[in-house]
Amino acid sequence: MDIQSSLASRVTSLKASAIREIFKMLGKADVISFAGGIPSPELFPTQEWEGLLSDIMANKGKSALVYGVTEGYAPLIELVTERLKRDSIPHDFDQVVITTGAQQAIDLACKSLVNDGEGIIVEEPSFIGSLNSFRSYNAKLFGVEMADDGIDTDKVEEILKKENIKIIYTIPTFQNPTGVTQSLEKRKKLLELAEKYDCYIIEDNPYGELRFRGENVPAIKTMDDNGRVIYVGSFSKTLAPGIRVGFVCCHKDIMDRIVVVKQVNDVHTTLMMQMLVTDYITKYDFDAHIKKGCELYGEKCSVMLSAIEKYFPDCVKYTKPEGGIFLWCTLPEGVDAKPIFEKAVERKVAFVPGSTCMVDLEAPCNCFRLNFSTASNEDIEKGIKILGDLLKEELA
Ligand SMILES: Cc1ncc(COP(=O)(O)O)c(C=O)c1O
Repeated sequence: MDIQSSLASRVTSLKASAIREIFKMLGKADVISFAGGIPSPELFPTQEWEGLLSDIMANKGKSALVYGVTEGYAPLIELVTERLKRDSIPHDFDQVVITTGAQQAIDLACKSLVNDGEGIIVEEPSFIGSLNSFRSYNAKLFGVEMADDGIDTDKVEEILKKENIKIIYTIPTFQNPTGVTQSLEKRKKLLELAEKYDCYIIEDNPYGELRFRGENVPAIKTMDDNGRVIYVGSFSKTLAPGIRVGFVCCHKDIMDRIVVVKQVNDVHTTLMMQMLVTDYITKYDFDAHIKKGCELYGEKCSVMLSAIEKYFPDCVKYTKPEGGIFLWCTLPEGVDAKPIFEKAVERKVAFVPGSTCMVDLEAPCNCFRLNFSTASNEDIEKGIKILGDLLKEELA
């Protein structure tokens, strides 16, 4: 029996090997990992949640353990809507739905909007989970280079003029993997382009609340007068990724489809976790928790930037994020980061090679992603020194 040739081609083209390798590394205690993409586990509110979870079981157990409504737990929808209103996000035509992480929201939006072979413009580099979701629907991906102020909007327009594009996918704030924040001008321009060329924008914003420097830039969704923007958020980076609670806010006509698609996907997001998030936000100071995260990541980012400055060769360029949990390093042209990744792993330091974040996964890539939210300050210093020594040898 040839199982491999029986698998659907839309999934056999997906590659996860590099990521699998990274996850293997993360499991090893003696590896300093800059490869993760999660908040600092020291911030997980485990003590508070212990009480909240037993309270849910004791007092709401029967309603927590039945089927729920696909749209989400009503009190959580209300809380998310209120929080989004503080940022001028939902418009009258919008609806908010709770999803099983931002990942599901992106997947549902793509499944609801994109026909086989239709185009999606993505930032290059971008978030692998979204790229793989788009690939699984046979979307044609068009990568557009990132600058210090976000995606190159002139290139976006060039593609829009020539190709059948359905969606522009952007992570405008503290982008994964670069840490870059898109300027307000570019946000306006993207929306203008979506209007002009009749396509949609998925604005993926799981890191937006994690600002530790600089001024807030309004979300594209705030300017979305005609329902072009599907706004995606998550509690993965502000609370914990394992609870799998995210949300999507978009025009109710698109949401109509998203809800039906979610119904055939997982029926609804686990009620228990939706109740947990609701009770946590209601009974504790969630904004203070986020502020603590911002302070911690700001400090860790500074430690990493100083170590990079001290130990990396001058020819390595890197971003200086104002928030989020990642920064992005660029080696001189022609150098491939993948073999350096393999050597770094031998020296027990892990990062994400840039090629995994690209449209063409096979092309050599001279970039890599560093996460600064999870390692201790001592490990950041130690790990960056090891990387710096390796880079000096490799680039000599
Ligand atoms: C840009 C971006 N979007 C979406 C996700 C998925 O987040 P969630 O855990 O909410 O599914 C991630 C996770 O790393 C991400 O970085």
